[in-house]
Amino acid sequence: MKVIEVKDYEEMSQKAAEIISSYVRIKPHAVLGLATGETVLGTYAALAEDYRNNQTSYRKVRTVNLDEYIGLNPEHPNSYHYYMKHHFFQFIDIPMSQTYLPNGLAADYQEECTRYEEVIETLGGIDLQVLGIGRNGHIGFNEPGTSFDSTTHIVKLAESTRKANARFFPSLEQVPTHAITMGIATIMKSRQILLLVSGKKKASIMSQLLEGNVTPSIPASILQTHPNVAIIADEEALSLVSKEQRKVHVQ
Ligand code: F6R
Repeated sequence: MKVIEVKDYEEMSQKAAEIISSYVRIKPHAVLGLATGETVLGTYAALAEDYRNNQTSYRKVRTVNLDEYIGLNPEHPNSYHYYMKHHFFQFIDIPMSQTYLPNGLAADYQEECTRYEEVIETLGGIDLQVLGIGRNGHIGFNEPGTSFDSTTHIVKLAESTRKANARFFPSLEQVPTHAITMGIATIMKSRQILLLVSGKKKASIMSQLLEGNVTPSIPASILQTHPNVAIIADEEALSLVSKEQRKVHVQ
């Protein structure tokens, strides 16, 4: 894992957008794995701006998102379908038929998990997967304890994750209890991974990620074994990483 240190959220977002848009310019048919949440909002805004200024085209790009809440329809303002459309897809020229997310209203969730894995496989796998990280080390909604062999599956959200995400909902009670998420094995099959980390609240998990062992209790720790991971982290996120580890990882 190489760590690119940036000053703050703004610089992280610009840098991430540069990497993603350059990738798309070089490979117009790219399959992008996408995340939702607060961390990636600035990146989507920067990509939308790049589209306006430089016309980087997404007409042939395909996207697959990491996850979706169970029980929310795609028009629900807290669904990840809605998030992606309103924060990113509506600003670029990607046909919506080329954007894929798990269906949070599937009649049979087990079948939906199988279908989603098949979608990814049919697309030829993920070229560049963008990730955020939960304060408990989750990636996608793969909470601590998830098997590293997991493929797309249903998860019961950790209470800490529901509380962290409650800021987007009118109340904690309205935060869904379950989600569908790509599994850790699904994520690890991506050819390239870009993990974005910003802010003090991620400083503790960031130091555990860089200094700790590979363990299911920190799902993101498996990224240490992936051959092509770049982490863009800002000063606050790196504030608890020791000098020794900085020398090993930070560019
Ligand atoms: C979102 C996702 C999550 C988030 C993580 C960080 O699709 O899969 O793993 O990336 O919870 O969320 P923020 O960015 O809101 O801190």
